[in-house]
Amino acid sequence: MTEVMANEGTTNVAGPPLYELRGVTRVYSKGNVVVNALRGIDLDLARGETIALEGPSGSGKTTLLQLLGALDIPTAGQIRFGGRSLENESDKVLTEIRSKEIGFVFQQFNLIPTLTADENVAIAMVPREPSREKRAARAQELLAQVGLEHRLGHLPSRLSGGEQQRVAIARALANAPEVVIADEPTGNLDSSNAKEFMALLHDLQERFGVTIIIATHDEEVASHAQRRLRLRDGSIISDTKN
Ligand SMILES: Nc1ncnc2c1ncn2[C@@H]1O[C@H](COP(=O)(O)OP(=O)(O)O)[C@@H](O)[C@H]1O
Ligand SMILES: [Mg+2]
Repeated sequence: MTEVMANEGTTNVAGPPLYELRGVTRVYSKGNVVVNALRGIDLDLARGETIALEGPSGSGKTTLLQLLGALDIPTAGQIRFGGRSLENESDKVLTEIRSKEIGFVFQQFNLIPTLTADENVAIAMVPREPSREKRAARAQELLAQVGLEHRLGHLPSRLSGGEQQRVAIARALANAPEVVIADEPTGNLDSSNAKEFMALLHDLQERFGVTIIIATHDEEVASHAQRRLRLRDGSIISDTKN
């Protein structure tokens, strides 16, 4: 258990914020069309918090998550993650940060349809864990922690939407990340599954000390976050604590 929970106990540890954003700007140019997706974001995010990112479609939520997830770099401005400036890192380092320190959960779940639940989780550990046996054991343990110990050998097509989402969460936690980033993760769940999803995230956050950042349209989901940020037209227009 201890091995699995590499980040256990990091909640509320004093020190610099997990993320420090200064003047973060992202401009998309397509031909002669220019979109100012983010307009100078200044933001600190603490370790171990659950943060909801709200705002209408097109307000910049996905763009911001991609920057926080080291999937993209800003057009201007700085993003410090755990003290490193992401905009100065090489692709190789960014890839390493993504695979070791960040877990992703997507609206479409993005499970590999030809792999079983446990294989979907185990394959995420390939870059970090050379032992096949250890990957398999840890995948089983993580799936048990999200309540799916009875579904290990099932293909995604044999799982409900809520169960697929749980597999996606177990996969996001596979490498004991510092942060889990979720883009409209309950968009394809009914409201009871969305509630269960949030309860599960809270539970995992308490046990793993992981920071959770969720873009959502779902008031129920946002109301469970500790901090709510609202974006409009590429700017943060409100920042409140629940
Ligand atoms: N790859 C892209 N190329 C051009 N424009 C984009 C791209 N991705 C997003 N945009 C634009 O940037 C703005 C913010 O989009 P996005 O971050 O996806 O918002 P949200 O997730 O809040 O719906 C929108 O105007 C969108 O059309
Ligand atoms: Mg989006």
